[in-house]
Amino acid sequence: MKKILENYLRPRSFFAGALVLALFLAIYGWSMADNVPAPEQCCECHRQVCEDTADKRYVHAPFRERQCALCHIAPSGTDRIAIAKNGQSQVQWLTESSPRQEIESWFSIPPVLAGKKIILQAEGLGRKMVRMEVQLPNFLEAEQLGAVSRPPEISGLGVDEVKQGVLLTARVIWKTERITDSTVLYGENAPAGKSIVDPRLTKEHEVLLTDLQPGRNYSFVAVSQDIFGNKTVSPAKTFSTRTFFSRPRVEQAKTTEKVTVSGKYFRVDNRFFAKFVANQPIRVRLGTLAGQMINVSTKAASSGRTGKLPPGHLPLTDSRFLNTGVCYSCHPQTKGVLSHPVDVLPKRGMIIDNRAYKLSGDGRITCMSCHMPHASDNEYRVILSDKKKLCLGCHKNFGGGL
Ligand code: HEC
Ligand code: HEC
Ligand code: HEC
Ligand code: HEC
Ligand code: HEC
Repeated sequence: MKKILENYLRPRSFFAGALVLALFLAIYGWSMADNVPAPEQCCECHRQVCEDTADKRYVHAPFRERQCALCHIAPSGTDRIAIAKNGQSQVQWLTESSPRQEIESWFSIPPVLAGKKIILQAEGLGRKMVRMEVQLPNFLEAEQLGAVSRPPEISGLGVDEVKQGVLLTARVIWKTERITDSTVLYGENAPAGKSIVDPRLTKEHEVLLTDLQPGRNYSFVAVSQDIFGNKTVSPAKTFSTRTFFSRPRVEQAKTTEKVTVSGKYFRVDNRFFAKFVANQPIRVRLGTLAGQMINVSTKAASSGRTGKLPPGHLPLTDSRFLNTGVCYSCHPQTKGVLSHPVDVLPKRGMIIDNRAYKLSGDGRITCMSCHMPHASDNEYRVILSDKKKLCLGCHKNFGGGL
């Protein structure tokens, strides 16, 4: 758990942000479907896979939308998902997708990108992914923000969910009147000992606490720091893990309205920020076109399967990426403490029946050890409807507590 926590706490230096207004830039939209084969083609040959899902209760959204290529097809070069008008250029992602759909999204942009074009990927209420090219202004054209010295105001602080999912979690929420990062310090007797830090800049804060024991009382404080360094620590509050309660899932009304986004750009000293405002709540991710400086680590995609494929079949993504990596691109919140560990080997004494649970080639847990990729009759598309059985199949001697 420590290691996972540390992983999570490592600041994702890319996120940060700012306020006010400036210039409005041209955004050329193009759909990412342009260069990939029509999905009907996949289903023509893989008929069974496509038809098998028709009568299932829970069909994974990208499968339903026939975004087969997004998960399965390897880009010809370095990074994950290739896009482009004519299949030439690829995106190197600078950020993970934001965890929630929001009208207003803030990012800290490396100043070296000023004056360049970046790629913005947005998922709106229609759940269709759109990509657009955004021309960033030169650094000095971005509006300079004057420093503020007043600390941010915290309101609406509370816990809106205590839940036993894969892990026992409690969700702390609060609002601030300006964008800040989000930190929660918590512990059993005092709001200390444990902390979760989310460097993303937002006014609507949501921090999921893990590393909790059932049947205890916890104390916590929320801390918000703005881009000028002003910091507010909330008064301490408490919650208990004796009773579980959930926030009802609000289904956002779907819309077919096309996503439109406008950008405004700001600078504070030598830092550069972008604020994207959309016509509907969107989940955003930013990237650059490959070959355009910025060294994002890239792994060669080795399919290992290509041998079996018929000639002319598009190359497949490697199985490690398919079974976990691609999932993070749309479910960033499952990285780190918020999900069961993946990419780990069974510990000594744990025997995993690989007929019941899919493991990677070298015997590691993947997302697919517990989930069905396309569709299932089980909620969350887990492989067994009985969660206890699911866990106990591997954790033979988990005593109660689940
Ligand atoms: C012309 C027919 C054809 C088309 C079109 C086609 N495939 Fe395939 N695909 C095959 C054949 C044949 C195989 C190898 C046999 C097998 O494993 O089913 C294969 C293998 C695969 C595999 C590996 C299967 C496994 O068992 O590991 C995946 C994944 C796959 N294709 C995905 C796709 C996707 C996604 C598309 C659309 C972008 C697509 N295919 C388009 C014929 C096709
Ligand atoms: C969210 C990602 C995702 C999407 C979208 C997706 N798949 Fe898959 N698919 C997977 C994963 C994960 C596996 C399991 C891979 C493994 O066994 O290593 C898989 C397995 C497969 C296989 C081989 C195993 C089987 O069930 O026969 C085929 C063929 C396949 N998918 C075709 C498709 C087609 C066609 C589409 C589009 C209609 C599609 N997939 C959409 C993730 C995806
Ligand atoms: C292209 C984006 C995309 C990718 C890639 C993706 N997902 Fe999803 N996934 C979604 C969306 C959209 C939903 C629906 C979320 C919602 O309704 O809030 C979803 C829902 C889920 C759910 C909840 C149950 C359900 O079916 O609604 C699970 C579990 C899940 N995904 C697992 C995975 C795993 C495991 C992978 C990797 C193989 C993966 N996802 C890859 C977009 C994606
Ligand atoms: C050890 C089993 C296991 C593994 C491994 C696992 N999950 Fe899950 N996942 C579950 C279970 C069980 C649930 C249902 C959680 C609940 O009951 O709240 C779930 C729920 C989810 C959800 C829906 C969460 C929500 O609240 O909407 C997503 C998305 C998801 N998993 C994605 C992933 C991804 C991505 C991976 C790999 C990084 C992964 N899971 C690995 C067991 C697992
Ligand atoms: C496919 C086998 C498998 C399944 C199914 C499985 N686990 Fe695990 N689990 C593992 C492995 C492997 C580890 C890592 C072993 C270790 O502790 O080093 C692990 C570790 C954990 C940990 C310790 C996490 C940490 O950070 O130390 C928890 C808690 C846990 N599992 C809970 C669950 C729950 C709850 C379920 C059911 C939803 C579940 N597991 C299902 C294989 C599994």
